[in-house]
Amino acid sequence: MEYTVDACERCDELVESRSRIVNGVGTGSLGIVFVGEAPGADEDAQGEPFVGRSGEVLTEKLAELGVSRDEVRITNSVRCRPSDNRDPRVGELENCRPYLVAEIDTLDPDVVCTLGRVPTTNLLDGVGAMREVVGDELRVEIGAKERLVVPCYHPAAMLYDRSKEETIDETLARVVGIARSD
Ligand code: URA
Repeated sequence: MEYTVDACERCDELVESRSRIVNGVGTGSLGIVFVGEAPGADEDAQGEPFVGRSGEVLTEKLAELGVSRDEVRITNSVRCRPSDNRDPRVGELENCRPYLVAEIDTLDPDVVCTLGRVPTTNLLDGVGAMREVVGDELRVEIGAKERLVVPCYHPAAMLYDRSKEETIDETLARVVGIARSD
């Protein structure tokens, strides 16, 4: 299945609220796929995931680890901006999931890092609170294969709660370490 989506009308509300479909970016050559929630206003305007404030955090944190955006894959659980920054609905996550699964299948990364609660619960059935799984190395069936998934707090979380920064740093360092050791 093609994972770069040029046209999709599966979600009535998202077709109305988006100005474009925001596909993933980066080669993923290092072996990491980061999965966020959904495009925000900046991403919708620019057509690229994680380019707003939380994107700046992610890009900076990766740079501190010597990693460029282009070496990793950065994508989202849904590719169209929900209105008023609401969370994507369960049906929308389901509609978009085949694209995400095809992206992960094709890039075949060493590790998938979920950024925040929405992608974590989307890919891991039955997860409760983020704090219970953050930084864990979990084996999860995604599409055709069992994958290593490491949940991380969403980069925006540390903008509201500085105490999360250390955990984000540790989790990203762990994810990069896994990819580099493979
Ligand atoms: N937050 C997300 O989860 N994804 C983006 O692309 C931007 C912000």
